[in-house]
Amino acid sequence: MPAASHPAQIPAQLPRVVVLATGGTIAGSAGSAASSAHYQAATVPVGALLQAVPPLQGVARVEAEQVAQIDSKDMSFALWSALAARIAYWTAQPDVAGIVITHGTDTLEETAMFLHLTQPCPIPVVLTAAMRPSTSLSADGPLNLLDAVRVAAHADARGKGVLVVINQQIHAGRDATKAHTSAVNAFVSPSGGPLGFVQDDYVRFQRAPLPAIAPLPVPSAWPMVEIVGSYAEPSRVVVDALAAAGVRGIVVAAAGNGSVHEVLGGALADAARQGVAVVRASRTGAGHVALPASARAAVGGFLSALDLNPYKARVLLLLLLAADPSLGADPVRLQARLAAF
Ligand code: SIN
Repeated sequence: MPAASHPAQIPAQLPRVVVLATGGTIAGSAGSAASSAHYQAATVPVGALLQAVPPLQGVARVEAEQVAQIDSKDMSFALWSALAARIAYWTAQPDVAGIVITHGTDTLEETAMFLHLTQPCPIPVVLTAAMRPSTSLSADGPLNLLDAVRVAAHADARGKGVLVVINQQIHAGRDATKAHTSAVNAFVSPSGGPLGFVQDDYVRFQRAPLPAIAPLPVPSAWPMVEIVGSYAEPSRVVVDALAAAGVRGIVVAAAGNGSVHEVLGGALADAARQGVAVVRASRTGAGHVALPASARAAVGGFLSALDLNPYKARVLLLLLLAADPSLGADPVRLQARLAAF
């Protein structure tokens, strides 16, 4: 059971919000000479992060669990499963209004997608993060944490599923993606833009997320699903090796509107004939990959991840194949499932 902290002397009438901490730069620290690239992520415990934000005490009764303390580059299926279990535990407590997850920015978009796909979210589940460590000048973590708790506690956030709150913006967990190496406005939602914003204590949703979907199960066994890129003069070595290793699904970070180099395409077609699900996502960062014209074209032309980037498409393909391994041999049904989320 992870450690929990219960700050004292907080008015009982405030909503109860639980913070699940996983590490990241928001919990990072650095020596005085540190630059934006030289600090240690995931060092500051969640209790200290909360204490650094005194206004939280006027927003919610905040409790916290240190679920993990990692740099999110090292995210694992085990930690995703643990997070899902802790969300289920806290959601079952009758008076919890919302859940906040502190996370590293580097793979936040994958965790947000995993939670979007697996969590029923009767209460808001809000991920937040920081681009600057807690010890830096103008650290962005304290305000992001405060805003995330504001959103998690807010009535308008109910029914909006998994959210990402960072840099005063509210994004849908399905859509949010990191698009800058170091800027505090690193997160964007390429398809439709953010859902809303937080300005001091004003939480405003300006559009609704996509309609809620029936959640997929958290897998007990995770199929191998990998990402390969299409670029100038690729070899077929990686795809052939993946097929030989028993890969169940491959997401291609394809050029433009889903174009795949003919050499890579030949290797992928061979893999598809062996039952490997092949899905094209665009490496451009925005826009939809056109759907295959027909089921027949889907077999040779591979499937479309629509507007999902390769990393989010991989999470979806992982969960779909884990829930129903027969989808790998049924491109028509798999394409319909890919389009449903
Ligand atoms: C991480 O992803 O854990 C480190 C980088 C960050 O949080 O910005």
